[in-house]
Amino acid sequence: MEFYIGIDLGTSSAKLMLVDGEGQIKQTVTKEYPVFYPHSCWSEQNAEDWWSAICEALPELLDGFDGQSVKGIGVAGQMHGLVVLDSEDNVIRPSILWNDGRTDKETAYLNEVIGKEKLFEYTGNIAFAGFTAPKIMWLRENEPENFAKISKIMLPKDYINYLLTGTHSTDYSDAAGMLLLDVKNKCWSKEMLDICGISESQMSKLYESFEVVGTVKKEIADKFGIAQDAVVVAGAGDNAAAAVGTGTVGDGKCNISLGTSGTIFVSSHCFSGSEKQAIHSFCHADGGYHLMGCILSAASCNKWFCDEILNTKDYKAEEQAIGELGKNEVFFLPYLMGERSPINDVNATGMFIGLRPNTSRADVYQAILEGVAFAIKDNLEIIKQFGIDVKSSALCGGGAKSKIWREILANVLDIELNIPVTEQGPGYGSAILAMVGSGQFDSVKTATDKFFEIKETVLPNKELVALYADRYKKHRKIYPAVKDLYKEIKE
Ligand code: XUL
Repeated sequence: MEFYIGIDLGTSSAKLMLVDGEGQIKQTVTKEYPVFYPHSCWSEQNAEDWWSAICEALPELLDGFDGQSVKGIGVAGQMHGLVVLDSEDNVIRPSILWNDGRTDKETAYLNEVIGKEKLFEYTGNIAFAGFTAPKIMWLRENEPENFAKISKIMLPKDYINYLLTGTHSTDYSDAAGMLLLDVKNKCWSKEMLDICGISESQMSKLYESFEVVGTVKKEIADKFGIAQDAVVVAGAGDNAAAAVGTGTVGDGKCNISLGTSGTIFVSSHCFSGSEKQAIHSFCHADGGYHLMGCILSAASCNKWFCDEILNTKDYKAEEQAIGELGKNEVFFLPYLMGERSPINDVNATGMFIGLRPNTSRADVYQAILEGVAFAIKDNLEIIKQFGIDVKSSALCGGGAKSKIWREILANVLDIELNIPVTEQGPGYGSAILAMVGSGQFDSVKTATDKFFEIKETVLPNKELVALYADRYKKHRKIYPAVKDLYKEIKE
């Protein structure tokens, strides 16, 4: 039996998955690593920690299996992170992550001085603080000595692929989030490279996600007992890979992920987008495109509340204490790291409103789950403006394990939610990409048609939908009322 390794290089951990040729998951191993917040709004990680976690996980993953039967490896990664390498391919500084908000000045310059119309013409997108291009501009301004040393600009999973194969590669789905790619035409944007003061030679070679970028280096193959002819595919941004893992390929399908971030992803054969909307227009890992809304803090909100505020790890107990849905008086804005789409505001912070002496701990916890669902709905409303009618969606990510959160989300969004058998979308999706790259399938669609299975469907309930529609109207009024205050408080 042949095996494939799917690696999800997440924000809190690397999750490795061994999948056989029939799509069965044989083993999973997770290794955590820290995120550093050196200043308010900053978020960094050491690229070396990612690699150590993977090296620690691989022997456990292959324990009891024949590594010589590994035919392919696919890596999915947290998107947008800036990894800079010097001429010897050494990492120059810690990686600046997708949820880092230090680039408000650069982002404002791009959107207001270069202008959203031009940015959209060059890249198919507007600027957001977490995207890679404003980070490169920040580095040029604030760390010129590091900027001068840059020989290669990479994304997190591309750095792992480099360590596995020795090649500098990237794929279209992940490259799309750099604001350096002409997404529609799938090539680097000369204009954007010029704006950032970099050249194409500093960028990686572009591939489709399922294309092979190399084979595993001899020393890695020997160290882990992996077959030396095991191919490594270009892989994908974690959201595109998650979409593959949940069968969200082809036209008009939807996937929602409740991970550290929360995303709503709609696949499409053709490019679409608009500079008037703060939504992402990216390439998909199946060779097509997608629209995506991303909220920076989703499952990280209840993790923060339980770990830091309540001092508990018993998330289940907090959920079980929740009473009636749809009637909570407390509202929560989940902007712990500022917010990406649709408000594109690094100054926004998390906030509660509606607290009273009789507010319970469960009301507050419920407000957090509801606040995240409302923020996803803010993005669904924008997607609808593109004429897309979302009636159902796959759901994946750590938050998808919570029964009550699934119910809240289905009713807030008023759509059916399909829970796949494999909730770990990115790892499974990247293993599928490796199967396609190694020739087991002729396309991503053929593979997902064979493997994708729904475990459970959560249906919206009329009464709850009406209650939540009313609460959503109130939620919509909170951010505009405090927007200017957020800015004032920060100054
Ligand atoms: C997507 C995004 C996040 C990260 C999380 O645009 O920034 O979903 O990819 O890993």
